[in-house]
Amino acid sequence: MTMYNTNILCIGAGYVGGPTMAFIAYKCPHYRVTVVDVNRERIAAWNSDSLPVYEPGLDKVVRTARGRNLFFSTEIEKAIQENDVIFVSVNTPTKTFGVGEGMAADLQYWERTARQILNHSSNSKIVIEKSTLPVKTALAMERILKSNNNGVSFDILSNPEFLAEGTAIADLENPDRVLIGSRDTESGIRARDVLVEIYLNWVPRERILTTNTWSSELSKLVANAFLAQRISSINAVSALCEKTDADIGEVARAVGFDSRIGNRFLNASIGFGGSCFKKDILNLVYLCRTYGLEEVADYWERVVRINEYQKERFVLNMLNAMFNTLAGKRICLLGFAFKADTGDTREAPAIYIAKRLAEEKAEVVITDPKALPNAMLDLNKVTGVTYEIDPYKAAEGCDALAIMTEWGLYKGLDYRTIYDSMTKPAFVFDGRNILDHQHLHEVGFNVFPIGKPALAHF
Ligand code: NAD
Ligand code: UGA
Repeated sequence: MTMYNTNILCIGAGYVGGPTMAFIAYKCPHYRVTVVDVNRERIAAWNSDSLPVYEPGLDKVVRTARGRNLFFSTEIEKAIQENDVIFVSVNTPTKTFGVGEGMAADLQYWERTARQILNHSSNSKIVIEKSTLPVKTALAMERILKSNNNGVSFDILSNPEFLAEGTAIADLENPDRVLIGSRDTESGIRARDVLVEIYLNWVPRERILTTNTWSSELSKLVANAFLAQRISSINAVSALCEKTDADIGEVARAVGFDSRIGNRFLNASIGFGGSCFKKDILNLVYLCRTYGLEEVADYWERVVRINEYQKERFVLNMLNAMFNTLAGKRICLLGFAFKADTGDTREAPAIYIAKRLAEEKAEVVITDPKALPNAMLDLNKVTGVTYEIDPYKAAEGCDALAIMTEWGLYKGLDYRTIYDSMTKPAFVFDGRNILDHQHLHEVGFNVFPIGKPALAHF
């Protein structure tokens, strides 16, 4: 019978690998947890006081465990040799070339890792898919890992991650569920139980779901597709509200009161961003097309299409409200991150909106408490954009404010002072419906929320 030591390795020290492993180390001082990455700068940042990922609560978790039983390193091969339980959390972006370009998951980082594990393992290992992958990836992984006839055996588990950025630590502490997919063989079940034991250190047994490998892989894609679908549904309805004087907040509340529907994830917005929703739906769409399920693929693809439509609709509403020209107008984007409490800007709707406003020859001023470094990288080829950390200074002399991210700090700003410093007529486009629209209107602003009647002075 194979004996595993439960020292844990994670390959990939990104938004998932870093916080997830730091949290396991924090909760389980009796395990030694190592996180490796090819990116030297990232590993150096994990070993510094300035972590590469901003997450509320993460600093404390890392500070407690790092050097005690949590180690960040670039020595991947050595770490593979020394650890028997290996999580793989490398990135799986959308393919940008060849077959499946723009749709399928790019599995090159994943496969490279599999081969590296194969080449540097001299005893049996449990390999755990933490990355989000197309269903049946574990089969490909098994084939790669079984291609070496040196007596070393591998069990592949699927253990997708459901944390959301900005609430990663709370999600890890108290997950709705942990999902573990395995083969139904004796060694598959044994490997599964090793992983169950790890989570049992802090997760109640009834929240640990075990399934077959393929259900687990597919459930991750489907969970993200359902979540994104809710946002596209409410955003689609927000467009209708704007034509009919219905109020999307009231509609969402009325609909969400039905306990079968539930009231969460029904906030109309400028569209969903983040590194995963779009990528994972496109991955699902591509899988469906691969299996000849065109109708099913079309159905899910609409979720992404509505999201693109919502971003463009927001820009067109701005253009229309501001007398059909934005040329030379100064527009302050309040927030740039794809959601609050993160500095992450991957697929942030603000990227698209800033680019479109610049195309209309507006002068765009961007402010965000955490995401300005990423914003500068995202927009480095766009002219006419400036960056200012102080929201009051950013708004000075602007014709319009547009809320991109629901940062709590934007709710508490003194909008009377801001109004006085702006060009008139002054506009607010609340892309997150977080502000007090009546108050803003009384201050003098022309207010354009999402899916609610506008409050204008003309
Ligand atoms: P990321 O890009 O932040 O991190 C991935 C890391 O893997 C990078 O630091 C990269 O350098 C490293 N890497 C790539 N190839 C490597 C190799 N061969 N050896 C060692 N390191 C390598 O990505 P992420 O946001 O952490 O996402 C990772 C996976 O988790 C993706 O599949 C994603 O879909 C999934 N996921 C992400 C989130 C999220 O909130 N970001 C949530 C759930 C699931
Ligand atoms: C999402 C899922 O919530 C996680 O469960 C999943 O693990 C993760 O994707 C992943 O696989 O990467 P995340 O993208 O970090 O997490 O953040 P969310 O809170 O889901 O928000 C995604 C986007 O939807 C954000 O742009 C957010 O502003 C937007 N959103 C969310 C809305 O526009 N309205 C809502 O009601 C909720």
